[in-house]
Amino acid sequence: RIAGPSSLVLFGVTGDLARKKLMPAVYDLANRGLLPPSFALVGFARRQWEDEDFAAEVLESVKQHCRTPFDQRVWDQLSQGIRFVQGDFGDDASFERLKSTIDELDRERGTRGNHAFYLSIPPKAFELVCTQLSKHGLAQAVEGTWRRVVIEKPFGHDLESARALNDIVESVFPPDSVFRIDHYLGKETVQNILALRFANQLFEPLWNANYVDHVQITMAEDIGTGGRAGYYDGVGAARDVIQNHLLQLLALTAMEEPISFNAEDLRAEKEKVLAAVKLPEDLSLHSARGQFSGGLQGGEEVLGYLEEDGIPADSTTETFAAIRLDINTRRWAGAPFYLRTGKRLGRRVTEIAVVFKKAPNLLFRDNGDEDFGQNAVVIRVQPDEGATIRFGSKVPGTQMEVRDVSMDFGYGHSFTESSPEAYERLILDVLLGEPPLFPRHQEVELSWKILDPFEEYWASLTEQPEPYAPGSWGPSSADELLARDGRSWRRP
Ligand code: BG6
Repeated sequence: RIAGPSSLVLFGVTGDLARKKLMPAVYDLANRGLLPPSFALVGFARRQWEDEDFAAEVLESVKQHCRTPFDQRVWDQLSQGIRFVQGDFGDDASFERLKSTIDELDRERGTRGNHAFYLSIPPKAFELVCTQLSKHGLAQAVEGTWRRVVIEKPFGHDLESARALNDIVESVFPPDSVFRIDHYLGKETVQNILALRFANQLFEPLWNANYVDHVQITMAEDIGTGGRAGYYDGVGAARDVIQNHLLQLLALTAMEEPISFNAEDLRAEKEKVLAAVKLPEDLSLHSARGQFSGGLQGGEEVLGYLEEDGIPADSTTETFAAIRLDINTRRWAGAPFYLRTGKRLGRRVTEIAVVFKKAPNLLFRDNGDEDFGQNAVVIRVQPDEGATIRFGSKVPGTQMEVRDVSMDFGYGHSFTESSPEAYERLILDVLLGEPPLFPRHQEVELSWKILDPFEEYWASLTEQPEPYAPGSWGPSSADELLARDGRSWRRP
């Protein structure tokens, strides 16, 4: 799978994402031999840069963030195809310059009319950029060539704005040329959910509410907003990651087996299960939100959310959110899914824990642990990629005492192959025109339909989100949410 002749045109090259992820991913793809010699990278921004200045920026970010060992020869080849277009989104002349750059690349570098426009820019600029691309003939592909657009989340702020955004994008690019990035889908361990479930006979017979008690999906981060106050405040934890990453994890964990792994079939199954999600009747009992306060985290003094740079002192944005969802299907009715995410929690970890019902009759002596006998399959998405199966085993000795133990699969132990970074995989798929790892607009809409009622409920509250200590596992209301159902969160 090597990309064909093409270019990637990056809007938003001066942003964090471009520097830390996108430009290094392009280099890593080149270094792995997955880009053709004719590949070109075009940056578009307001800065007064020449091609060489942009190339120097790319090189710096590559050296800092690339995953593969730096190879000067690969860089020399790649950097010959680096161009910069100085311009403004609203300025026609800038887009004419972009057009001539692209024409020149087609003629001289051999990109053959194939170009992907990556919009790593604030959503409010999408409309203008799409319109400009269309107006200057950049969005329309002539026969035998392609044009694609890549958009980064957030895909709107709620259902209504997501629809409006989609109308704009799809008025310019046909739906199969639109690639929506949810970088979680680019992660190896996330793709492995389907392999684990459907390439084995071991799990699937038990993967339903007859055997599963509930599922916990956790995405915990130990960092604060990391200098992204302008984006994060007013968005909050639920819109930032539940609407996209966590609901995608839920869909992959809960969906039925697709008839094939092509995009149509896969997306159809994900959409079916998202459409079957049932919200709790009383959202106040089945959701929780919090905001981290300042204090010691791992021995280090950290600021509270309200004290972070750029955050208004009275902000009600949540940095932690937990919700319960049920799924109205024969497979899942009766086994709830609990989703939680937060910043400044105990440690950085993303996992999906499928927690089984206990055996109907436990004959054995246990050691007083109340989770004793509760089997679980835990898919460790990151950072310690792998999977764990938890089950009971006899404790060596003269008595029949049973204790829970773990059986581990770790990528590092089982594979010598290295995992590509999520953005490498996704950029390659854009250039190859392979859509399975990109959510369709319908999925985005369904996700907003699930989240909007929680957001409306939280917006109606007058009190601040419940404070929680940095390094903890979130506010006590999150524990109460599960305790009400007679359950408790895992401590990953
Ligand atoms: C992004 C969110 O989508 O995912 C960030 O906007 C979050 O707030 C990030 O920090 C986490 O990504 P990862 O890959 O480090 O889990």
